[in-house]
Amino acid sequence: MAKAKFVNFLEKFEKAIKKKVLLKKKISVNENNKEYLKKKIIIKKRKNMQIKDIGFLIGEILMKISFKRFIVKAPIGTLYLVSTQNLIPKTSRKEGSRIAMDTSTLCIMRMIKKNADPFINTILEKNPLTVFYIEIGGLEKQLIQLREIVELPLFNKEIFDKIGIKIPKGVLLYGPPGTGKTLMAKSLAFNIKAKFLKITGSGVVDKYIGESARIIREIFYFAKKNIPCIIFLDEIDAIGGKRLSDGTSADREIQRTMMELLNQLDGYEELIDIKTIMATNRPDVLDPALLRPGRIDKKILIPLPDFKGKQEILKIHLSRIKTKGDINFEKLISLSKNFNGADIRNICTEAGLFALRKKRTFIVNSDLYSAIQKIFKGKERIKNFF
Ligand SMILES: Nc1ncnc2c1ncn2[C@@H]1O[C@H](COP(=O)(O)OP(=O)(O)O)[C@@H](O)[C@H]1O
Ligand SMILES: [Mg+2]
Repeated sequence: MAKAKFVNFLEKFEKAIKKKVLLKKKISVNENNKEYLKKKIIIKKRKNMQIKDIGFLIGEILMKISFKRFIVKAPIGTLYLVSTQNLIPKTSRKEGSRIAMDTSTLCIMRMIKKNADPFINTILEKNPLTVFYIEIGGLEKQLIQLREIVELPLFNKEIFDKIGIKIPKGVLLYGPPGTGKTLMAKSLAFNIKAKFLKITGSGVVDKYIGESARIIREIFYFAKKNIPCIIFLDEIDAIGGKRLSDGTSADREIQRTMMELLNQLDGYEELIDIKTIMATNRPDVLDPALLRPGRIDKKILIPLPDFKGKQEILKIHLSRIKTKGDINFEKLISLSKNFNGADIRNICTEAGLFALRKKRTFIVNSDLYSAIQKIFKGKERIKNFF
């Protein structure tokens, strides 16, 4: 009797143990599930945030009314009276700072760092093109003049102080297209260790009122913070044209840009470590106010290359190409009348194509002849077209 009771008890005990093991397993499975669900919730929450996180309008504080109320300028140029979010530190709520505004209430949501302007990043040449001075043909005199104005004051200021003359601020390179103006500026950027901002005139003119002037201000602000700095304004005629009494709103925007440029050029009297180089092939349309000494101190003509210049340019560009046999430079140059530097570089490219067509991997003298003829015909055709 006692034995039967004991066996029964043992069976019950075994069953209970089995049940416990089963339950333990279940718990561990559930725990795993819990972890998985937790991760899932986090992912879903993140996705939710992404959908909820909307973009902001970028604007500028124009005037402080009270420590919570500001007059701001929206990207389209309209002015608004808005309030700010409480979290923004009071000290950073300054006039002239860039802000992010809520799209519907226009409330100021955050401040944007001053040097975070995306435009500056796009125009700052971080790795300037490798152009050595010897790769510029036939412009020795002009190159010396340019370096005198730009390099000397940046690195040997004392010389100017000793003589007692004013340190030049800016230089204008003018002359026909394709003669190496941009090339000279790029070469300067590569050779001197200064920050180099390259702006093309047409690129600055923004479609929003007042934005272009802000960009000019922004450029000079950056330059002042990053001396020594060279500001290169290519195709300056796009913004530096003569001011007209009447014009469309686009014209007025261009004029505003120029006024800001003049204002900035006058402004950095005491800062000698910023130099501006401007380039144009239409010096005749430039506003005389821009050409005044103190804004542009030196005007350097970059002419079409003469016989010797052409020969140098041809030699520079031919040196990068495989040639065979004698090249008759004198004959080639005498055939390339009215050619500019870019045309001469083109001779080499075209000659290379002629050689390719004949399944050669080098250029001979006759390829260069054919190339000159082709470019000459092309130029004539364009002339007759108009
Ligand atoms: N004096 C020169 N020496 C060497 N290459 C030149 C010269 N002038 C022009 N070139 C060639 O023509 C190209 C265009 O010249 P660029 O400097 O852009 O002319 P622009 O005066 O219109 O700014 C240059 O990239 C270069 O290859
Ligand atoms: Mg150019």
